Amino acid sequence: MSIYDSGKRPDIRPLAADEAPVLAETLALAFRDNPLNRGVIRAGSVRRLRSNRHGMRATLAAALGHARILVPGSPKLGGLIALPPGGWPLPPPPLLAQVEYWLGQGVGAVRRWGRVYRELATLHPVEPHWYLQLLGVAVDAQRQGVGAALLGTWLKEVDREEAPAYLETDRRENLSFYGRGGFHVVGTDEILGVEIWRMRRPANGGGL
Ligand SMILES: CC(C)(COP(=O)(O)OP(=O)(O)OC[C@H]1O[C@@H](n2cnc3c(N)ncnc32)[C@H](O)[C@@H]1OP(=O)(O)O)[C@@H](O)C(=O)NCCC(=O)NCCS
Repeated sequence: MSIYDSGKRPDIRPLAADEAPVLAETLALAFRDNPLNRGVIRAGSVRRLRSNRHGMRATLAAALGHARILVPGSPKLGGLIALPPGGWPLPPPPLLAQVEYWLGQGVGAVRRWGRVYRELATLHPVEPHWYLQLLGVAVDAQRQGVGAALLGTWLKEVDREEAPAYLETDRRENLSFYGRGGFHVVGTDEILGVEIWRMRRPANGGGL
């Protein structure tokens, strides 16, 4: 039975700062097998998870206070990180989080992530927009409407500001999910041999 079928609609709310480590763990696992992660980390699943954990912790350390971070009731179920217009790119995380990131990722992965971010940055829109930095749902809670609930809650905020929105995704199967939210593909690129789709949603783009 899905979360929706059981009548337990997730209560979407902002992340509390002390929940960040739990959400980092959830997102690390949710993204462990994504194509870009495989292309950058180039190791087995245990190593990818560990590496991801450091990446997610650093991202959350940077995002707290600068981004909209939403969770579906519990950070164990998933989360969404979005940057408001003018908020991209995030400032670097605090020094300790940076050191943990470098040590946890290893030199090769840090270099390759740097290349991914630089290439994506050259393609980033210049118009003021909301940017969906990350959306992930715990593997055993996927396909039950949790992702749509997180996306829909955030898009209501985006629509109140009448702003366009933008994201990148490395999974073809995510295109219909985001398409239902009103996003359409504006470009495809290959980075480190991985196909990346860039998607834009016009202001008040409807969907969901
Ligand atoms: C992409 C992701 C966030 C979607 O979250 P989710 O909770 O699985 O999404 P939903 O359940 O709301 O919707 C996913 C699909 O399940 C379907 N679905 C929703 N509830 C359902 C239910 N009760 N039964 C069966 N299918 C259902 C939806 O129609 C949707 O189909 P679509 O892809 O054709 O649009 C999640 O799969 C994820 O974390 N993936 C790994 C990380 C990732 O790729 N993140 C996105 C990076 S840009």
